Amino acid sequence: MKTLLKILASASAALVTLPASHSLAQPSETELERQASQARSIERIQRDYASRTDDTASARSLARGPRIINGRPIANDAKNWEWTVSIQRRNNHSCGGALISPGYTASGKGVVWRDDDTEPVWVVTAAHCITELELNLIKRGELTAVSGDVSLARRDEFGKNRRLDSQKVIAAYLHPDYDPKTNANDIALLQLEELENPVSNRRRSIGIAQDTQQSWLYAPYTSLNVMGWGTTLEGGFLSETLQQVRVPFVEQAQCAGSYASASNMGMSAGMICAGFSSGGYDSCQGDSGGPLAYIPAPGVPSPTRSAVLAGVVSWGSGCARPNLFGVYTSALAYRGWMARTIRQAETRDTNN
Ligand code: ARG
Repeated sequence: MKTLLKILASASAALVTLPASHSLAQPSETELERQASQARSIERIQRDYASRTDDTASARSLARGPRIINGRPIANDAKNWEWTVSIQRRNNHSCGGALISPGYTASGKGVVWRDDDTEPVWVVTAAHCITELELNLIKRGELTAVSGDVSLARRDEFGKNRRLDSQKVIAAYLHPDYDPKTNANDIALLQLEELENPVSNRRRSIGIAQDTQQSWLYAPYTSLNVMGWGTTLEGGFLSETLQQVRVPFVEQAQCAGSYASASNMGMSAGMICAGFSSGGYDSCQGDSGGPLAYIPAPGVPSPTRSAVLAGVVSWGSGCARPNLFGVYTSALAYRGWMARTIRQAETRDTNN
């Protein structure tokens, strides 16, 4: 499969250069035949692939080169991804997550979610990411959160080891009403061990959606960003570099309606949707638990200047299929639960 990807990448690169070489000089008969046969072989690979995945659209997007379902890679020096973490089972990516840091108001009653670079030790993720296996790995110190770098590669281009910031998960708190059958309340918190000597200074936390932001944030067509190291096509491979894709918010009624008619999967309170009716752009397997964020665009008027966590990748029927939007756990709906859970855990820790 890896070689298939390589073949497709080089084949499509060759295809792209075709019109340019045409305009420079009339190609020879043999060159034309070579190009035609290359085009035929790409078509064949696409058909092969399509017959296996039953999805010609993703086979086509594969031919354009590997990307999160039609997203783009993020650069390390870009802004507004630094709260994204990779949750790893024994150094293998399994899910995404987002760094969060609650701060408490003087009265002790309120909570403000900080979005700064104090070393964060809490991650919000999806409850379905934390199975019996994860709970056992936590006991052995083998579940970690990797942060501060868009690349999960353990070696650099010269084959030398790279050091990644990796924090042990020391505790997991699943939402008490999480239901694996319906995916209701698909949210969990992970407490991380403090990082002794970080290699990256990029890590920071993201603020969580507040009531006062609801009217514009959770409104049809609000442009949101989802990011992760998940597969770049349905049934495809994980991505080594963090990918990001823009998806518009979709009203619950519309999303629930299309799921009700297309499958027996149901929406419940606390779930939100994002995506395009025509499909094509989405999160996918391995992106679960990762952030769906509102990110103000530079130079564009925005109700807020900093990024806001709107949701957590939860589920979908396939990936990027028409009318089957990506479903996310609403960050606003669980803001209170997150604050209470973290506060209880931290009070318990200081009393011990
Ligand atoms: N449940 C998936 C995971 O574990 C995420 C699926 C998201 N699907 C979608 N079509 N947006 O990684």
